[in-house]
Amino acid sequence: MGEHRPQESAGSPGTVAPARIDIVGLTKRFLTPKGETFTAIRDVSLTVEPGEFCAIVGPTGCGKSTTLAQVSGLEHPSAGSVSVGGRLVDGVTNGVSYMFQSDSLFPWKTVLANVMMGPILLGTPKKEATELAMDWLRRVGLTGFEDRYPHQLSGGMRKRVSMAAALINNPRILLMDEPFGALDVQTKAIMQTELLQLWEDLRPSVLFITHDLDEAVALADKVVIMTSSPGTVKDVFDVDLPRPRGDVQQIRHEERFLEIQGRIWESLRDEVTRAYQQTAGAAA
Ligand SMILES: Nc1ncnc2c1ncn2[C@@H]1O[C@H](COP(=O)(O)OP(=O)(O)O)[C@@H](O)[C@H]1O
Ligand SMILES: [Mg+2]
Repeated sequence: MGEHRPQESAGSPGTVAPARIDIVGLTKRFLTPKGETFTAIRDVSLTVEPGEFCAIVGPTGCGKSTTLAQVSGLEHPSAGSVSVGGRLVDGVTNGVSYMFQSDSLFPWKTVLANVMMGPILLGTPKKEATELAMDWLRRVGLTGFEDRYPHQLSGGMRKRVSMAAALINNPRILLMDEPFGALDVQTKAIMQTELLQLWEDLRPSVLFITHDLDEAVALADKVVIMTSSPGTVKDVFDVDLPRPRGDVQQIRHEERFLEIQGRIWESLRDEVTRAYQQTAGAAA
């Protein structure tokens, strides 16, 4: 952590170094249908070091996805700034991959064609892109499923395709918004373990959003707790569990894990309670 690696201009696979993400005073306001201003996030500041795995945890509606949308360049902040590798984010940034809760696969394309998309869009010749995609399908355990369509796969298998598609371009930044949120508990643990293995190989900087504290602690080097709405950074915790972490299902029973998880939960609990009261109040 804190190690400086050379910055590169990103783009082509295999040549990309992870980049630092600097979020400074990020604020996002939306206009409500009534014409009022709604502040979704307020003065969010945090840094993800090159190659660091950072998780953001906060109650539903606190502004986690909004934060990620500003980092991705898909939205523009109302105030504050985001820099990736020292360069101000203004529009969609090079070398960034995403994974969302929905699989974001093209339903009319085969598994192979879905995974090939990234390299093809970067101008990789078809033969080379096919070989690369075949190799990635092997890495995520999907050899033999190249010609299937997404709807012919289980939820876990679709996640594997999404992971291959997200990583095949060797991104310097990986943005993940509750990517395993819709999976059953066992499949989720398997996918988390597989994600960690793939990440260990490539080491992009990761911003991983979740409302699941166990998931955050098992995966991340650093856990950022957001307050209830309007979200801002409440606390930042280092997770010094050794790497490689191995089987996520196992880590959760370790004493050190429970200790760290317990300490962070103290901070998160108040925000979850407050968020619940806010929404319960709105419904009353
Ligand atoms: N485009 C938008 N227009 C208006 N309000 C929005 C928009 N996007 C998000 N919000 C509001 O901002 C708040 C934070 O949303 P979001 O970032 O999705 O929360 P989280 O991901 O933490 O659950 C919510 O109250 C949501 O309704
Ligand atoms: Mg969200």
